Amino acid sequence: MKRTTCTIHLDNLKHNVEIIKGLTKGSEIIAIIKADAYGHGAAKIYPALKECGIENFAIATLSEGIELREAGLKDPVIVLVDTQDDDLKKLVDYNLTQAVFSLDTAEKINEYAKEKGVKQPVALKLDTGMSRVGFQVYGDYLEKSIEDIKALSELSNIEITSAFTHFANADDLEDGFSDIQFERFKTGVEKIREAGVTIPKLHVSNTPSILLHPEYQLDMVRPGDILYGLLDLKQWEKYNFKEVMTWETYIDLVKEIPEGATVGYGRTYKAEGVRRIASLPLGFADGYSRALSNKGYVVIHGKIAPIVGRVCMDQFMVDVTDIPEAKRGDEVKLLDGDMISIYKMAELIGRDVDEIVLGVSKRVPKVYVK
Ligand SMILES: Cc1ncc(COP(=O)(O)O)c(C=O)c1O
Repeated sequence: MKRTTCTIHLDNLKHNVEIIKGLTKGSEIIAIIKADAYGHGAAKIYPALKECGIENFAIATLSEGIELREAGLKDPVIVLVDTQDDDLKKLVDYNLTQAVFSLDTAEKINEYAKEKGVKQPVALKLDTGMSRVGFQVYGDYLEKSIEDIKALSELSNIEITSAFTHFANADDLEDGFSDIQFERFKTGVEKIREAGVTIPKLHVSNTPSILLHPEYQLDMVRPGDILYGLLDLKQWEKYNFKEVMTWETYIDLVKEIPEGATVGYGRTYKAEGVRRIASLPLGFADGYSRALSNKGYVVIHGKIAPIVGRVCMDQFMVDVTDIPEAKRGDEVKLLDGDMISIYKMAELIGRDVDEIVLGVSKRVPKVYVK
């Protein structure tokens, strides 16, 4: 057995896509595969998504887009985060669809596209209240945004392929702010179109919006977390989403310690009786959070083994007193999508699910199973 491995279950990814298709009834899917497909490995994830019929993708940065083009992805890819002026030429060279939120950037892209003799696709990013990037399409800002977008649409080598916005609080049904954002988006788009700008496709829905606001589904939807099963599986039990990533290691030593013995750095755990302790050969250098010290647990032979003492950089210890069959070489489940789900681990230490999967370090090899 390898020291530690993340297993990426492509069958679960496909299973989740089928559920999303059922929920979004005909809206095209833009799969969010930024941050190396939320730590799952974008170069392996995108072919699996394509097998499910997905033909649109979005990533965060230009370099992620270039990597995917070099890995063979030919479909439209939206770059969600800004690209610096010096790199805009590469954007055109790799035919990546920048999310644009300023006329100035669009003009620069247009120059490179003209030199290359191509029509460069861009996606209009509209700010409806997230106050991140985007042309502001509400209140007194709308008029100036329409003016800029109109000028942008008249650039000879730019083609607007879609317009979108992003919700600030879509998982809070009581807040009501998503409704305000959605109304601002619809009104903004209507006015931009009235000004003579062609916008073929619209999209607003991310994971919470797909689950909680079916009424916001437009031509396209943009799922991220939900593709990888990164949500409270218990809350959404009725849909049967599955986590795509599991994480395994093995026991390298089991030993008995006497009452009063302490475990690990800082002596933060003290045995109240004779205990059987198993050592595991990974630690926070592998991305296994130090915050799990004396809080988290692993699963061995289908039973829970609590972490005792601090998680070290390359090792940590668990209590296997109640698992008498545990011995050197046995499999240990660090994440299993069930007894120790990503969501549960995140909850234990007050983190976001994305932080758990993105935290797994490069030192942990990934194995892809169909
Ligand atoms: C613009 C945009 N759309 C969609 C998503 C996907 O969101 P989620 O992971 O909640 O589905 C993100 C993620 O941050 C995003 O930035």
